[in-house]
Amino acid sequence: MSLWLLVFASLVSGAPAPQKTPLNPRQNSNPTPTSNACAQIAPMTAGFLEASPNATPRVPAALAHECLQSVPNKPEPAGKMIDSLQAFVQWQSTLVYLNTPPSSYMLPATDIVGRLNNAKTKALAGGFASEYDFQLEVVKTFLSAHDGHFVYRPDMFGFRNNLAADIVSVSVDGKSVPKLYHLRDLNNTALNSTANSTAMPAAITKINGEDASKIIEETNLAFSVFQDPDSQWNANFRTVASPENRLVVAASLAFQGESVTLTYDNGTTKTENSFANLRAGANFTGVNNGEDFYSRFCNPDAVQLNATNGTTPAKLPPPQPTIQGFPFPVTRDSGANTTSGYFLNGTGYDDVAVLTVSSFAPPATYDPVEYLTNFQSTVGDFLTKSKTAGKKKLVVDLTSNGGGLVIAGFELFSQLFPDANKFQADNIRLAESVGQISHIIGAIPKDFRPNNTEQSRALKSLQDSAIVGNLVPGSVFSPAGNNLTNVESILGPISLNGDTFTAFQSTPLNNTDPQFNLTGVGTKANPPPSVFTPENVVLLTDGTCGSTCTIFSYLMIQQRNIKTAVVGGRPNLGAMQSIAGVEGAQLKKGQLGVLAEGYILKRATVPMQAGAVNGKNAFAPSDSQTPLQFSMQPANCRFFYTAQMITKPEMVWQRAVDVTWKDPAGLCVEGSQLAINETTAAIDPLFQKMMVMDADKISLSGAATSNLQVSRRTGMATLLTALAAVMALL
Ligand SMILES: *[C@@H]1O[C@H](CO)[C@@H](O)[C@H](O)[C@H]1NC(C)=O
Ligand SMILES: *[C@@H]1O[C@H](CO)[C@@H](O)[C@H](O)[C@H]1NC(C)=O
Ligand SMILES: *[C@@H]1O[C@H](CO)[C@@H](O)[C@H](O)[C@H]1NC(C)=O
Ligand SMILES: *[C@@H]1O[C@H](CO)[C@@H](O)[C@H](O)[C@H]1NC(C)=O
Ligand SMILES: *[C@@H]1O[C@H](CO)[C@@H](O)[C@H](O)[C@H]1NC(C)=O
Ligand SMILES: *[C@@H]1O[C@H](CO)[C@@H](O)[C@H](O)[C@H]1NC(C)=O
Ligand SMILES: *[C@@H]1O[C@H](CO)[C@@H](O)[C@H](O)[C@H]1NC(C)=O
Ligand SMILES: *[C@@H]1O[C@H](CO)[C@@H](O)[C@H](O)[C@H]1NC(C)=O
Ligand SMILES: *[C@@H]1O[C@H](CO)[C@@H](O)[C@H](O)[C@H]1NC(C)=O
Ligand SMILES: *[C@@H]1O[C@H](CO)[C@@H](O)[C@H](O)[C@H]1NC(C)=O
Repeated sequence: MSLWLLVFASLVSGAPAPQKTPLNPRQNSNPTPTSNACAQIAPMTAGFLEASPNATPRVPAALAHECLQSVPNKPEPAGKMIDSLQAFVQWQSTLVYLNTPPSSYMLPATDIVGRLNNAKTKALAGGFASEYDFQLEVVKTFLSAHDGHFVYRPDMFGFRNNLAADIVSVSVDGKSVPKLYHLRDLNNTALNSTANSTAMPAAITKINGEDASKIIEETNLAFSVFQDPDSQWNANFRTVASPENRLVVAASLAFQGESVTLTYDNGTTKTENSFANLRAGANFTGVNNGEDFYSRFCNPDAVQLNATNGTTPAKLPPPQPTIQGFPFPVTRDSGANTTSGYFLNGTGYDDVAVLTVSSFAPPATYDPVEYLTNFQSTVGDFLTKSKTAGKKKLVVDLTSNGGGLVIAGFELFSQLFPDANKFQADNIRLAESVGQISHIIGAIPKDFRPNNTEQSRALKSLQDSAIVGNLVPGSVFSPAGNNLTNVESILGPISLNGDTFTAFQSTPLNNTDPQFNLTGVGTKANPPPSVFTPENVVLLTDGTCGSTCTIFSYLMIQQRNIKTAVVGGRPNLGAMQSIAGVEGAQLKKGQLGVLAEGYILKRATVPMQAGAVNGKNAFAPSDSQTPLQFSMQPANCRFFYTAQMITKPEMVWQRAVDVTWKDPAGLCVEGSQLAINETTAAIDPLFQKMMVMDADKISLSGAATSNLQVSRRTGMATLLTALAAVMALL
């Protein structure tokens, strides 16, 4: 465990008198290792807990930061931590692409391995002033990949500021560049002004004395997991679908200064102190200095790795009629609050249906099969009702959709366009341990029967593994659907961009399954025909569409030429990407022994959530060279949020309809209207050679391993579990 033990949060209102905030928090004077800041925490939190036992104790951000900065960085464990991380990092599919990205990639290149090595060298030489500085460098190294699947999560960082927490980016009319406002101010003025709908409150022009947009873009570059500047911008601001979004200065892993000062265009300036909440259960009694802190919280021996124990699925409470913040639906899910359908009201909109999918993931602890089954029936019910009601146009709202179960993305596409091909071409970086694991798996005899419960559990764990399952002969297929029945055919290798990868692979989608059949398969064969024609469908995103959301979106765009509209982005004109969340398909690597030891997991607060890598690259049919993560996918039209759209999703949907079918030229942001690129559906000659594109010609029989757990994100703990399973079968 580590410094991550602290989760900082929340700001106290009625804060002490404003203090001068450094423009650059890193210019703060460094507390000396003899600081007694840590000693002040126990008495402070004890009193707080006495007053309200169930509350999370909070301390001023500056004090928390000073305590963290007094915690020494110990060279030997720091080096061990980096070695362990490097083993996982080798499984990151985009490692070499990040070093030398193609020109379509909009962010700076980054050398993850080199940067981690430098951190190790520096740590071994005693170059880090504190454990905090060291771990922050590790976290920032991961973040420099701007990849939502590539995470190391020591959860110490979580400074909060309330003053900056409700800032939103709003355009007066949806077309002119947005400004920053407090949502509560908008609620008091713009939203309630009936006489003049364009009356706006004071806009925020500066944060901590610097241009507000500039600060936001800079902090995004350091901390955002999204891969283009406009999506990074959107991820800072709350909407109905993502009420948790906050500016980096309002909620960050890293100390952002002791307070936040905002300057408004009416001349007023306001300052409020930032605070940090201690994680429930963090016991500071006896922690009198940084050394004590290290012994208490950075001790791997105190952590029990229990990687094989899954959580028990829980039942969701019965759903409310509406999803919080949304209008009354035509149909909705059974309680996940992520899938719902609507019919728009009002002249000009009466033939429009809206399907909102804000996630493809089941809620934590909810049974994935139950989620998928309900997702399937919710979408089916929505389409049936749309057809009955004679709806002609469809808005698919994917704002804030960061992905989830891959199979859910295929399910939605299968119901919308049952006849379309579901192209898949993924690959895995050929890390040394990938090869080692495949050969171990390949050596398991075909007639292997588990002898005992340990082996049975290991075998099941292996088959269920989203990662190692991609290396099991007989359960991996070529993009053309050929069964890859031996290790060699899976491993390839294929050289791309100076790196080596496995052969392109796909997951079989036409296997029947006793738990869930994809639409078009088994008991779900012969689905009803498409309700909506492609020209009458628009995909609405805010650019933060990631993972499974990208799989679904690319199928829509590339297989059916579906139009896209995007909302939000930086305060500038011009086009914006529709899909800029992580587009890979996940994993990890390294020398097997270092991996298996899993030291890094023991240095995370929650070992099961220590982090992840992106194990699989995903490719479009038109380009076998560039992983989708590095391609540019501009939307056909962009518009900005208005004040009303922030709180009323139906306003966003109406605008999506208007910009798509009513008046694109008049309503799209200047310079953002782009024609559909008909050639994206073209097939790369390499893929063409490799495969038969007609899905009907792919005949698969018999049930291979279940595809329900297919996921693109590879948790470090999950990988370790699978690895333990491989070892147990030896
Ligand atoms: C509406 O508000 C805008 C911006 O505050 C102002 O310029 C305009 O004059 C107002 N219009 C009316 C009719 O009050
Ligand atoms: C300026 O705007 C801020 C934010 O809405 C508000 O708190 C403040 O009272 C306003 N100042 C003046 C002088 O109106
Ligand atoms: C906190 O730690 C102190 C010193 O180790 C111990 O005496 C005390 O019981 C602990 N408190 C809780 C609530 O665990
Ligand atoms: C798994 O977790 C449950 C609930 O926390 C616990 O009762 C059980 O003993 C654990 N099983 C193993 C094998 O660790
Ligand atoms: C349309 O109007 C009905 C009836 O007032 C309402 O229940 C529903 O939520 C509205 N739908 C939308 C998308 O606003
Ligand atoms: C769904 O929303 C309801 C409130 O409408 C809430 O009680 C419930 O916890 C939410 N479910 C999930 C899984 O977040
Ligand atoms: C199962 O047990 C038998 C007898 O001990 C042994 O010969 C065999 O190798 C074991 N099989 C596996 C897969 O471990
Ligand atoms: C693929 O090949 C394996 C044998 O290597 C076989 O067990 C499996 O059933 C095959 N899968 C399909 C879908 O044909
Ligand atoms: C899937 O289809 C197969 C073949 O029709 C059937 O045996 C199986 O029960 C179906 N699974 C579900 C969950 O209905
Ligand atoms: C259209 O798509 C093709 C294939 O992906 C790409 O090469 C081309 O640059 C795109 N054209 C435009 C105008 O984006």
